Amino acid sequence: MATPRHTQPMLPSGTFQDHSIVITGGGTGLGRSMGQYLLSLGANLAICGRRREVVEQAATEMASAFGGQVLALVCDVRKSDQVEAMLSAVHERFGRIHGLVNNAAGNFICPTERLSYNAFNSVVDIVLKGTYNCTLAVGKRWIAEETPGAILNISTTYAWTGSGYVVPSAVAKAGALIMVRSLASEWGKYGIRLNAIAPGSFPTEGAWSRLRPPELGDESDLNERIPLGRCGEHQELANLAAYLLSDFAAYITGACVTIDGGAWLRGAGQFNGLERVTSEQWDMLQAMMKPGKK
Ligand code: HXC
Ligand code: NAP
Repeated sequence: MATPRHTQPMLPSGTFQDHSIVITGGGTGLGRSMGQYLLSLGANLAICGRRREVVEQAATEMASAFGGQVLALVCDVRKSDQVEAMLSAVHERFGRIHGLVNNAAGNFICPTERLSYNAFNSVVDIVLKGTYNCTLAVGKRWIAEETPGAILNISTTYAWTGSGYVVPSAVAKAGALIMVRSLASEWGKYGIRLNAIAPGSFPTEGAWSRLRPPELGDESDLNERIPLGRCGEHQELANLAAYLLSDFAAYITGACVTIDGGAWLRGAGQFNGLERVTSEQWDMLQAMMKPGKK
């Protein structure tokens, strides 16, 4: 039986009026869905990514569909100078920044012994280094300005269980989650709140193309591994994200809220099941998925 979904927007309109929020990787997938909801609640939004055409097109479409202002910025979160420049551009356009969503990520499935050092670094640098670059840059501003702020990390459930076949991502997400908990303690005195969301399966092009290629044929049994029997709706995630960023969550910091239909309880590490993929199948998958080898 399909379990109920509740996809209505949750917070009162105007919740983010005169608030500016930065979402890394906000031009696609879950970042875009969260951004659209924040916009509809009155936020001024800044989105960034490495591909100019993606963020610019997303900003145009989002502003025309939801109203409000969307600033599109090219920024590679691995580079601290680009992160500083991005935040300066946001400040110049919107004034003070109220919230940051560390959403940008890189990931792909691969047996760990097949990874090059550069492959491992490329994921860790986006997910962990990118997250601390953005967190540190915005936190320093807030502390210097003596203004409060809210940071939200998009994590995963394997940040605490670990998972085979996505080891660089698991390592980096775990580090980023510990940063949330550590800084929630250290920066509480400045009025800075840090929280995380651990989503389960929320279909997006970026994740599905890299983690669930159709050649693996595991779509049919995905829902069976989720106690609530279905994937998440983007609005369900957006509702939670908006709440944690908003003043309604003023007494919540250092939390990680799981939104996965109960999936992690049914078996730690979503990708451990890839044990069944043969060496020949990995050869075939890598030939298709690795850059320059399509
Ligand atoms: C093995 C791979 C590989 C693959 C890339 N590499 N893909 N190795 N299998 N499938 C290797 C490359 O050969 C190279 O190593 C190194 O990784 C860097 O690759 P580049 O393409 O040069 O890097 P870059 O352009 O920086 O791209 C980063 C990326 C890419 C992570 C590899 O996938 C990307 O841009 N991703 C961004 C979006 C994304 O991943 N979205 C999904 C998030 S979903 P060598 O040694 O050859 O130089 C998510 C969900 C979590 O996080 C939880 C789900 C339940
Ligand atoms: P996605 O659409 O691929 O989102 C990733 C975004 O990050 C892209 O917009 C990408 O844009 C950006 N990005 C990657 N590297 C970057 C860099 N170095 N600098 C700046 N931006 C960068 O995938 P998604 O599914 O929406 O994932 C969003 C978040 O949810 C991630 O943190 C992911 O780990 C998490 N998550 C997703 C699921 C799921 O089921 N979808 C489950 C658990 C957790 P560019 O490539 O243009 O830079």
